[in-house]
Amino acid sequence: MPNNSNFPYDLRIDAQRQKTDFDSLAAIGVDGKGGVHRPALGEAHLAARAWFREQVRAAGLELRVDSAGNHSAFLECSDHFSPVLLLGSHLDSVPHGGRFDGALGVLSALEVLRTIKEAGIHLPVNLEAIDFTDEEGTLYGFLGSAALTGRLSHRDLQSPRGGRHNLLAGLKRAGLSEAGLLNAGRDPSSLAGYLELHIEQGPQLERAGVRIGIVTGIVGISSYRLAFIGRADHAGSTPMLDRLDASLGASAFTLAVRRIVLEEFPDCVANVGQMQIEPGVFNIVPQKATLGLEFRSADQGTFDRLETILLASAHTEAQRYRLKLEVEFLAKHLPTPMSPLAQQAIHQAAESLGLSTLPLPSGAGHDAQYLALWCPAGMIFVPSVNGASHSAREFTRWEDCVNGANMLLQAALHLALGRK
Ligand code: HGY
Ligand code: MN
Ligand code: MN
Repeated sequence: MPNNSNFPYDLRIDAQRQKTDFDSLAAIGVDGKGGVHRPALGEAHLAARAWFREQVRAAGLELRVDSAGNHSAFLECSDHFSPVLLLGSHLDSVPHGGRFDGALGVLSALEVLRTIKEAGIHLPVNLEAIDFTDEEGTLYGFLGSAALTGRLSHRDLQSPRGGRHNLLAGLKRAGLSEAGLLNAGRDPSSLAGYLELHIEQGPQLERAGVRIGIVTGIVGISSYRLAFIGRADHAGSTPMLDRLDASLGASAFTLAVRRIVLEEFPDCVANVGQMQIEPGVFNIVPQKATLGLEFRSADQGTFDRLETILLASAHTEAQRYRLKLEVEFLAKHLPTPMSPLAQQAIHQAAESLGLSTLPLPSGAGHDAQYLALWCPAGMIFVPSVNGASHSAREFTRWEDCVNGANMLLQAALHLALGRK
């Protein structure tokens, strides 16, 4: 073990080993269009988890898998009963997503544990590198971190946004159960803190020419399924004004969502990411139009007001076109500030590495917004080229990935060694 006075703050990760890992993982679920397709608990995601288990064992770290399927590498670098400093992110991806979202955070967390293990450092905490189940909401959203922090209820699992059938099929493929999800909660006092490295998934850092983002808070995200219901009729012989055309309500509402957010909620975003027309054939007037609506706000009061106004607008458009409306609430993840303590550790890390920083909110949701309910949680962002993410265009320069992993290492050391 080096004995100079600056130890362990002069430690750095093994960038070549991290690159080898990154390239191996990016080949799992590769979609042939430059991205990856690893929806939660699907075959490719399960293959990525198998690959992660191999890396954990090869590193001589303890493998832990909890009843929510969260996969971890564990390094006992303190006494057995010390709390755990958790580092991690997620290996699942959105459909045809990018190679960096989530993966960079999990691989860098694993690399941090390997580096600290090899340096033989004794800390006042133990370390764990975790891959959370279904961060992306293919099934529910932040499923693994909500389970770990005891925030998942039986009711939440009845109408998940990915559909109950898909949730149960995914759990079965992975050998998991609803009971296991509901029993995965840990003891809050067992966590000393949580740090997550992630790509920014937006243009702020690149536009500012800054290397590291220190996340100040994470947006709240709410999801609804809305069904506009009209009447199937002959598309040729039914006079236009006699039609109860479900697609009109859905289309008018989609445009109203955009207008409301732009005009009344400029700090928020909303998305109609799904639209299904039934029966969905050329010569029948649409009987049913089902939308997937998601909206986000960094402020709780604004979040609540936006929800009220959007749902009222859906009713207005349904009435306008003489349609019925069915509203199904799917999930709500709350806006959450990041810990000042964790932000300070990240700031100290950037100073020790000589990297420029920018404090910024996250427009993307992350598992950190659940861990923050229980312990000091913080996030480190690295620049996304052109702000692109959730597509094959997602890209972060490798130098920034290495900076991010060294930031995670240094911030973990500052947070661990700074504990009173
Ligand atoms: O949707 C999000 O904000 C995140 O990528 N899960
Ligand atoms: Mn992510
Ligand atoms: Mn994502």
